[in-house]
This record gives sequence, structure tokens and C-alpha cells, in this order.
Amino acid sequence: MEKKKLAHVAIIMDGNGRWAKSKHLPRVMGHHAGVRAVERTVRAAKDLDIPYISLYAFSTENWKRPKGEVLGLMGLFRYYMNSKLNELCREKTRMRFAGDLAALPEDIRQILRRAEEKTEQYEERQLIICLNYGGRKEIIDAINKITAQNPQSPVTEEMLRENLYLPDVPDPDLIIRTSGELRLSNFWLWQSSYSEYYFTDKYWPDFNKEDLEEAVKDYYERERRYGKA
Ligand code: FPP
Repeated sequence: MEKKKLAHVAIIMDGNGRWAKSKHLPRVMGHHAGVRAVERTVRAAKDLDIPYISLYAFSTENWKRPKGEVLGLMGLFRYYMNSKLNELCREKTRMRFAGDLAALPEDIRQILRRAEEKTEQYEERQLIICLNYGGRKEIIDAINKITAQNPQSPVTEEMLRENLYLPDVPDPDLIIRTSGELRLSNFWLWQSSYSEYYFTDKYWPDFNKEDLEEAVKDYYERERRYGKA
């Protein structure tokens, strides 16, 4: 039985709004509590020695949310990046971002660039935040880049991979989604071909270290065959 070491855990952090509603709070309070769950999960991933953790923070579809909620989320990204950068440096965690970053407000892009530059020398672990990310857009962007450079030759898998947002990041071994929804929602479309999935009914703000441990344990109990018999 093949038990591939868990290199990359990707998380669809869902249920912030329902968590807030269940407590008669405004939706944005669910996102605030979601940031605390992010902090717990990043620490837990370090303790569990998981080298890559990626978080689906804002999708290309999330712009359709009410303006106040989008502004609230942008404010939380600013807060998180500004307040956590020193801690991530102390813990030697490289920060990276995946998505169509050009469409984000200029001050956020500057914060992201600074975080990437300040942490780019760390090799032990990476925290990847997917911002204005959409799997379909990532694939289309890659194809457009390839065809602009090589208009005549057919596109190969290798060429496509090399033109993804973060080509060197290993595909996610495990994708966790919280809040009981059983969908991929345009996350890591190309990279998830052989990922294992783990679903929990817990809302994201309630997700904790034990939940991550449970998901990892479940992963190691599975058999991965990659299409072989
Ligand atoms: C989905 O819950 C969550 C989001 C669209 C935003 C995720 C953002 C955070 C957890 C906060 C900041 C993150 C970082 C990395 C600093 P939902 O609002 O769709 O919940 P619902 O389905 O219950 O309405």
C-alpha cells in the first residue's frame, strides 16, 4: 500500500457566514473568527510538519458579494499580512500568493510583495494564500501565456504546469473543506487531479488543531493508487 508523505494540505475555508448567523452576529464577524482559525491552523500545520499549506481566502467569484463584505475581507487580508509577517519570519515560513493579483487594490499588492520578498529565503515550509483565485482562470491564463510565446506548437501538460501561478508547488495531497459542502468550487482545478478529499461539517471558525490532526490521520489510512491496479 502506497502511503505518500503528506506534503501539501489545501483548505477551502467555508462556513464563516453561517457560523456568524448561528450566533446572531453580522457575517463579517464570521470572517474575523475565520482569521483566528487561520492562525490556529498555520501553527498546527507547523507542529504537524506539513511543508505546504494553502488556503482559499478569496475566489474570483467572491467579488459578487455585497460591497461591505468585500471591503471587510480586504481589510482582514491587510490586517493578517501586516500583523503576522514578523511571526512568519520568526518561524521561517515562506509566504506566497496564488491568483490574479493584478486586480487587487494597489496597497494590498504592495503588502503581498513585501511579504513574499521578506520570506523568500525560507525553505522549510510555505503558506500559500489564494486571493482572487479561480482554477479556470489560472488554466486560461497559462494557455494564453503559452500560445503567446509558441503560437505554432501544441500545448503539452508540461508546458501548462510550468505556466501555473506557482509551478514549483507540489499538487495538494489532501483538500479539506469545512461546513459540510461537498464541492471544489473552482479551487486548484489542475492540481487536484489526484488529491484526496476530506469533508467536515464544522464551520471554518470552529476548525482547530484536533480537526487538522483528524484529517491527516484519515489521509494516512487511505490507499493512493494513481490509476494503477
Ligand atoms: C467562506 O465562508 C469564506 C470566505 C469566502 C472567506 C475566507 C476568509 C477568511 C477565513 C478570513 C481571512 C483569511 C486570511 C487568509 C487572512 P462563507 O462566507 O462563504 O460562509 P457561508 O457559506 O456560511 O456564507
